[in-house]
Amino acid sequence: MNYAITAATGNFGQTAVQELLKSAGSDNVIAIARNVEKAKKLLPQGIEIRQGDYADEASMEKALQSVDRLLFISSQPGGKVTRAAQHQNVVKALAANKVSFVAYTSFPNAQTSTSALADDHKLTENAIKETGVAHAFLRNNWYLENEIGFLKSGAANQYATYWANGNAGWALEREFATAAAKVLTLSDPKEVYEFAGSARSYEDLGAALKQATGNDFEVKQVTAKEYQAGLEKTGLDSNMAALFTSFQEPINDGSLNENSNDLETVLGHELTNLPDAINEILNRN
Ligand SMILES: NC(=O)c1ccc[n+]([C@@H]2O[C@H](COP(=O)([O-])OP(=O)(O)OC[C@H]3O[C@@H](n4cnc5c(N)ncnc54)[C@H](OP(=O)(O)O)[C@@H]3O)[C@@H](O)[C@H]2O)c1
Repeated sequence: MNYAITAATGNFGQTAVQELLKSAGSDNVIAIARNVEKAKKLLPQGIEIRQGDYADEASMEKALQSVDRLLFISSQPGGKVTRAAQHQNVVKALAANKVSFVAYTSFPNAQTSTSALADDHKLTENAIKETGVAHAFLRNNWYLENEIGFLKSGAANQYATYWANGNAGWALEREFATAAAKVLTLSDPKEVYEFAGSARSYEDLGAALKQATGNDFEVKQVTAKEYQAGLEKTGLDSNMAALFTSFQEPINDGSLNENSNDLETVLGHELTNLPDAINEILNRN
């Protein structure tokens, strides 16, 4: 059985490769990366590395030859070729190669979500369904790492600001990635996994951050406009500040308010508790 992981040089891909190696063994794992030299530096020695760029359908067709089960990690928006088009290339390539199973990293409740971030994922899920290839949609909630600015403010004992009302199902990115690799080897995977930590607000996150750091800073809700202005004051240009501000939109509009235990179930254990997860991130940065 040949397993392959796309976007293997990313944080998610690297963790998934490491996890898959434990269960499948290095002879059965193929890492697909658009930059092979980068992959050679970042990935464990001894595994096969293939070149594959989502923007180039022919390269993906070649990369997926003889692959049985594929972990397809979603691309990033903002490239020359749209993310939707990149994903269509991957779907065509996996259908052309008769890949027997694909696990695709999607967005929470992708089919019904009203978040603009869900659009590419809904399209991709539908394109995968149309191929008839067996699949699992891994609808990842929010990486705790997304909140690095908030976490660092509290760690520096400065007030931690946010603007969004609502909850998110934060968990460590490595927990989502480990679960993704596990689904790839399941004999009878579900069609949809809503992978999430417990639903929590920024107030909850702030309380866990105080516990993690021992600091007693103010957790302060501001308007989205004030939040963006605050980022600009730190030196970010207005486009970047607007982008970072927009990351809280799916929390504010309820898209990330999830109560599924799929993540713990697939991992087979409880998630890292929030203060420990926060310290893990702070100790890395
Ligand atoms: N749920 C969440 O909270 C959340 C947050 C952030 C991201 N995401 C999603 O999760 C995915 C993985 O996250 P991550 O932390 O691993 O991101 P990352 O560390 O930034 O890595 C992104 C990966 O995508 C690869 N990539 C980008 N464009 C590509 C293309 N055209 N063809 C092939 N590979 C391409 C990159 O390759 P290079 O190394 O060559 O650049 C890299 O391997 C992201 O791409 C995004 O879709 C989810």
